[in-house]
Amino acid sequence: MAESAAPDIVRQHLIDPEICIRCNTCEESCPIDAITHDERNYIVIPGKCDNCNACIAPCPTGAIDSWRRVPRAQMYTADEQLAWDSLPAEREGAAPGGDADLPPEVERIVAAASAGQGGDSPPPWSAAHPYINLYTTARPAEATVSGNLRLTGDGATSDIRHIVLDFGTIAFPVLEGQTIGVLPPGADEHGRPHHPRLYSVASPREGERPRYNNVALTVKRVTEDHDGRPVRGVASNFLCDLAKGDKVRVIGPFGTSFLMPNHPGANLLMVCTGTGSAPMRAMTERRRRRIALAEGGRLMLFFGARSPEELPYFGPLQKLPAEFIDINFAFSRVSGEPKRYVQDRIRERAADVAAFIADPDTYVYVCGLKGMEQGVAQAFADAMRETGGEWEALLPELRKQGRYHLETY
Ligand code: A2P
Repeated sequence: MAESAAPDIVRQHLIDPEICIRCNTCEESCPIDAITHDERNYIVIPGKCDNCNACIAPCPTGAIDSWRRVPRAQMYTADEQLAWDSLPAEREGAAPGGDADLPPEVERIVAAASAGQGGDSPPPWSAAHPYINLYTTARPAEATVSGNLRLTGDGATSDIRHIVLDFGTIAFPVLEGQTIGVLPPGADEHGRPHHPRLYSVASPREGERPRYNNVALTVKRVTEDHDGRPVRGVASNFLCDLAKGDKVRVIGPFGTSFLMPNHPGANLLMVCTGTGSAPMRAMTERRRRRIALAEGGRLMLFFGARSPEELPYFGPLQKLPAEFIDINFAFSRVSGEPKRYVQDRIRERAADVAAFIADPDTYVYVCGLKGMEQGVAQAFADAMRETGGEWEALLPELRKQGRYHLETY
């Protein structure tokens, strides 16, 4: 009797529309244009994805890491996926098979380890375990606003706020460097609920107020787009206008890479602009609260803003002792002073920066405007070269060791 041929089962790459925040990172990172979107959903074009995994690590929510085993002839079409509100259940008869496939977790680790090849850095070896995706758009957590404080000075052009959300009795564990998603109320011009927007947590893991179940965010009211055209940011304006006692729907937490080391003696080199200071504030505050433990390790910060009035946390930062943190401000629009970016300050401190990066216990974090990415990397390269080091050789090592983390927008 002839054996019946095994069904041709494929592991179809999909995007979970419930978790996806439509940030376009996957589409940008796909080298073969296998990801597309319409106004509703982001999808992986069936049959086009070659499982290179370049999109997996950069995705801030993990929505991209979704898979279904299906007979090849019954792969979900693009039109089907564009209409989804949630992922379909695993189809019957499509049991795990295809021994050429690795489990997604293994593929992710492999991708992360392929330094500089599209894979994101793994976390520092001593990072605490992060919880992710505990709350989704279908099942968000509800937080209550317990504070909303303007951080920028009266004369500042930007309105940046420190917003504290209290989760009451709801478990919402976050680590410094993680992000959470905020669901603005209401609907877009097509009548569909607004997509979530991501914000970095600005408070340390034990809460903005220690042992309270609360989380702080650093939010800039968006009044113009990247090209300077007037626009009203839906989520940022919602958040900046919140009053004490108001309710906010929150999803997440997200992020498994941009995490701080926990071992004694670990150094932090932090570079940020504007609201990119949120994770740096969280990490600095974590370390400040542990000063008495004398665990060692140094902190060095490069922080860019238009002027001191525009720099979030300017006052509190200045009060920190110099032996605890080496702070370098870069102001770009102070009258009578030359325009300075963080990369200029890094160059001015080249010898110290190069020695700091070369220390195997130093972990580097860069967060802020997308434009700074290149400039900062170039400044690091120049600093290393001045002292006989080679940045191009060091960077893949730093990434592989979870010692170089970048988050720009
Ligand atoms: P600029 O005065 O040129 O805008 P923002 O206030 O828009 O959030 O920006 C924060 C700081 O980052 C500002 O000082 C801004 O300077 C600066 N900045 C803008 N572009 C870059 C870049 N490519 N690299 C580093 N810093 C930048």
